[in-house]
Amino acid sequence: MTKKFLIAGNWKMHGTLAFTETLCSEVAALLKKEPLKQVDLLVCPPFTALSGALKTLQKSGVLVGGQDCHHEPHGAYTGNISPVMLKDLGCTHVIVGHSERRQYERESNALVKEKAEAALAAGLIPIICIGETLEERETSQTLAVIERQLEGSVPRDATVVIAYEPVWAIGTGRVPTIDQVTEVHAAIAKKQKSFGSVSGTAKILYGGSVKPSNAAALLNVPHVDGALVGGASLEAASFFAIAKAAAGL
Ligand code: 13P
Repeated sequence: MTKKFLIAGNWKMHGTLAFTETLCSEVAALLKKEPLKQVDLLVCPPFTALSGALKTLQKSGVLVGGQDCHHEPHGAYTGNISPVMLKDLGCTHVIVGHSERRQYERESNALVKEKAEAALAAGLIPIICIGETLEERETSQTLAVIERQLEGSVPRDATVVIAYEPVWAIGTGRVPTIDQVTEVHAAIAKKQKSFGSVSGTAKILYGGSVKPSNAAALLNVPHVDGALVGGASLEAASFFAIAKAAAGL
């Protein structure tokens, strides 16, 4: 069976309504002109732009997801957004545990796992992010860190997407070598299998400075089932070029 890639755009804190409408209609137009087999496209705009993105992308086949969610379905949590609300809007996925949230919002593995469980309960597919810092990489702790993050933040017996994003590769233009990606993705796949109930929709994405120029090489690595794209997802042409690289494999 040929694998189906997931190319996800994490817009982070970018995206006014006008920007969202333009970018989403451009992506939809590119996909209409050139439908991609074996590739799912997903955009994850900020909460305020989700409705606009969903409206613009209606019937385009492009999926929409959130960048984070609360770990409770509802309640007295001022300023938070629950996975039930994301599902209600029409989202299919939600990113949890991105390194920027682990770092700036001090999110722990335990909290990330609760969020992933809440997302699953709401009928969303969580994209759970993990990855080592440069210091951890340079002191040969990468696999131990990955193992600890998987143990702590991934629900068992569930179909989830895991995104390996080395912190030092995010927004820096630096990417790990193919050998490094191969090593970590193999370790994640092995661990994921041991967690049980892994269906065909469970995936492992690579993220961190993915560009049209390096996408094919990264996506060609065993156990790389797609990409979580930051900067390059903010332009329709580069986001689509990455998706085309996946479709060409
Ligand atoms: P860049 O693609 O900008 O490096 O960001 C990666 C990322 O953090 C996606 O979640």
